[in-house]
Amino acid sequence: MTILRNLSELNEWRAQYSGHTIGFVPTMGALHKGHFSLVQESMKHTDLTIVSIYVNPTQFNNPEDLLKYPNTLESDLEELNQLKVNAVYLPTLTDIYPDGPVSRIFDFGSLAKFMEGLERTGHFEGMATVVTKFFELIQPDFAYFGEKDFQQLAIITQVVEQDGLATVIVPVKTVREEDGMALSSRNLRLLDTQRTDAGNINKILRNWISKKNFLSSTPQKSSAFLANEISHYDSLTVHYVTFANSKSLEPITSFEASTPTRIFVAVQCGNVRLIDNFPLF
Ligand code: PAJ
Repeated sequence: MTILRNLSELNEWRAQYSGHTIGFVPTMGALHKGHFSLVQESMKHTDLTIVSIYVNPTQFNNPEDLLKYPNTLESDLEELNQLKVNAVYLPTLTDIYPDGPVSRIFDFGSLAKFMEGLERTGHFEGMATVVTKFFELIQPDFAYFGEKDFQQLAIITQVVEQDGLATVIVPVKTVREEDGMALSSRNLRLLDTQRTDAGNINKILRNWISKKNFLSSTPQKSSAFLANEISHYDSLTVHYVTFANSKSLEPITSFEASTPTRIFVAVQCGNVRLIDNFPLF
């Protein structure tokens, strides 16, 4: 596995492999099985896989979250090496932001109007800025994104289309712990009791979805019911429980089995903000 510590090392590596298919997995490190499933997907379908590890300052709307973002670089590199990834890119700040860390301007339309887009001002602009920069530098054929961050996946898919980029965005299913909780780097910051409480979020949602009796209710009533169920746990404070159209990501006003719909949730647990989502139909 080649470790590329700056843009000229990346350029040198990339120049050797024209004519090969390149799969790219962007990450912010503190890697877990969710990240590794993206890497494995890439390795199955491309000649070479490159992973980036970069905690992108422009996508953090909360300075404390940036400061406390977990860093496990040594073990990340060891695990990627064991997976036989071809290259890891650890960019410098100036590789990505030669003119300083500022975001590009985007028009995400309806995709960023609600949920994370509403609650984390500037987050998606920062995310899309760094990802499009990576695409420009790496020129990957395929890039892998988790459904765990469904809004991010939808936004980047749209940006690629709007910018006319050649990279194909490949979605990968959410990897979960034994109790169903979605794996996330930020889970490392949860205390034991918080972690136990947090495991109930997905159970409440999945249990409710499986009963299917929501078809006789409304999204508004169902959101209020589920938010209340989640709030029974001491360490959980609900930011939102939203039902949205899976394509436009606009909140729905009634349940229609013919409209692709997902439930999206954001919950504060201690000082960690957790997000998850599930399809309804
Ligand atoms: P990060 O949170 O490190 O996630 C990197 C990729 O791993 C994302 O595509 C994310 O959706 C995916 N991922 C995280 N947890 C997952 C899980 N449990 N199952 C499946 N996939 C999972 O998302 C980012 O970094 C950043 O915004 C980034 C795209 C790197 C831009 O800075």
